[in-house]
Amino acid sequence: MDWDAFFTVHSDLPREGPGCAADVHWALDAAGVSGAVPVCDAGCGPGADLEVLAEALPQARLTGVEMHAGFVQSARSRCARFGDRVTVVQGDMARPGGPYDLIWCAGALYFLGVTEGLSGWRAALAPGGWVAFSEPVLLDGEQPQAVREFWAEYPAITDLAGIAARVTAAGYRVRGHRLIVGAPWSAYYDPLQARIDHLRGTEPDSALGEALDRDAAEIALWRAASGQIAYALMLVQPE
Ligand SMILES: C[S@@+](CC[C@H](N)C(=O)[O-])C[C@H]1O[C@@H](n2cnc3c(N)ncnc32)[C@H](O)[C@@H]1O
Repeated sequence: MDWDAFFTVHSDLPREGPGCAADVHWALDAAGVSGAVPVCDAGCGPGADLEVLAEALPQARLTGVEMHAGFVQSARSRCARFGDRVTVVQGDMARPGGPYDLIWCAGALYFLGVTEGLSGWRAALAPGGWVAFSEPVLLDGEQPQAVREFWAEYPAITDLAGIAARVTAAGYRVRGHRLIVGAPWSAYYDPLQARIDHLRGTEPDSALGEALDRDAAEIALWRAASGQIAYALMLVQPE
């Protein structure tokens, strides 16, 4: 993977994985998180969900943690209107600080491992605190070829019961879940496709061309089986 080429493609995008505002609102409602609480967005990327969290929790103090400098800058610009209520830290989400009433983590916990990441976050949660994270999930039934190819680079993927088992192994309990399928993936892939189309017209070098081809192939696989490619949004709490 040529990371320079990757980040050339993945810049100026509204988000870096599937999701939408309704997912954030569902988690806040289900957890009953409100008021002047500390909240973390772990692996916040360019800050789409951090912005939604800040709007939904007008008294909360929010911390985005993100390792990639370009995304940190994007998230800071995007959330500047919230003043010092929102901080974006360039750092490792394995050590997010805290304690927090909620750690939100969209499409990033798999970098740590579900069990490993949740285990490490125990110390970052306030008493009664929550974690909401999204994780690739296999839906019930036969997996079409496009689904198998789509997830080929994530062999650790399981069904919902498998995610629940990894949550339990960390000493947490599943309090709720919902599927992320369809429109929240368009919210990621439509702007990415537009960026690919734009960069194709700029005479890309071979490294950039390969990065564009890789992302275009991923989008094509998703389009071939968009109803069967899903994340599970998991709402969990320590036992
Ligand atoms: C698939 S993207 C999702 C970004 C964002 N949550 C969203 O939905 O747009 C995963 C993000 O996690 C970040 N990341 C991965 N490992 C990390 C770590 N150990 N510490 C901080 N950020 C990390 C990546 O840089 C990337 O921005």
